[in-house]
Amino acid sequence: MSGIKIRGTGRFAPAKIVTNDDLAKIVDTSDEWITTRTGIQTRHHCTTETHTDMCVGAARQALENAGISPEDIGACVGATFSSDYLSPSAACMVQRGLGLPHDAVCFDLNAACSGFLFAIHTMECLLAQAPRKYGLVLGAEILSRVMDFGDRSTCVLFGDGAGAALVEWGANYPSLHAVLGCRGNSEVLYVPGVNTAAPPHVHMDGQSVFRFAVEAVPRCAREVLDRAGLTPEDIDLFVFHQANQRIIDFAVKKLGIDPARCPGNIERTGNTSAASVPLLLDELVGGGAITSGQKALCVGFGGGLTWAGALLELA
Ligand code: COA
Repeated sequence: MSGIKIRGTGRFAPAKIVTNDDLAKIVDTSDEWITTRTGIQTRHHCTTETHTDMCVGAARQALENAGISPEDIGACVGATFSSDYLSPSAACMVQRGLGLPHDAVCFDLNAACSGFLFAIHTMECLLAQAPRKYGLVLGAEILSRVMDFGDRSTCVLFGDGAGAALVEWGANYPSLHAVLGCRGNSEVLYVPGVNTAAPPHVHMDGQSVFRFAVEAVPRCAREVLDRAGLTPEDIDLFVFHQANQRIIDFAVKKLGIDPARCPGNIERTGNTSAASVPLLLDELVGGGAITSGQKALCVGFGGGLTWAGALLELA
């Protein structure tokens, strides 16, 4: 069996921190409402930083932490729907920023908040054919630019950031046992594009998304475990998309796992969509919560509607 392992991770958080009290000066909300309904206390917003700055910063850190040179990269896949340009892709901007080889396969994909896990599975397939065995997987979003700061039901939820993973392909490495899915729906969660008259803001029916998420996260986690022939006890950590602490709490309960094995950072990041899982992974790796040989079962869900799960192992 062939597959990939994580050799290094990185992240970039914009300098500006926005508190719930800051948002309460703009819309009719309160720290108490946001904290109890979502678990979010602060989030980062870009000011002078660009999407490209975040991607290049996170990717550079992942390369450094892995001890791998840019010339060893065979592919770079970015997950995002809020990059600086519709074209070139964020991955192409990273190719330029870091001087990745010209034959490295660089492109973006859009699976919203499931994007990083779609991208890492895509990378697993790509590296089997790539000119070199190392790949960069990015999740990055500037969601503060696609927010309606007059809509209290969405603008308090999201934040900006980027996370990166440097992965290595190996003929004897384990499969990610990825589970990916989508159910096309442009009603409950969507961001209009350039071909529509509507403003390019996040539109969301929060309760419908909540109901979708509390069903999708535990189902997806169980499907990954089944594919891998494992039980929850075989997993070192569960890394779930940071959208709402209440969604995570529901999933933990349904799976019957100890909440201590499902760490989070939502109180400091808000929902950073495709950046959410790699940002948290980097924090956990940097803090020593996941070490070499350990397994993290990651699950994402979001716009599309999409869902994704994968078993990531640290080299
Ligand atoms: N501050 C204060 N009140 C707010 C508010 C805010 N920021 N946002 C909404 N409200 C109000 C509503 O207007 C409503 O008022 P009403 O009862 O007078 O009509 C009330 O709070 C309850 O709204 P409701 O939508 O039922 O709240 P909720 O408990 O479902 O929480 C979410 C709202 C958005 C936090 C929740 O539905 C959620 O997290 N959904 C999933 C969203 C998600 O994860 N999206 C990303 C997917 S990747």
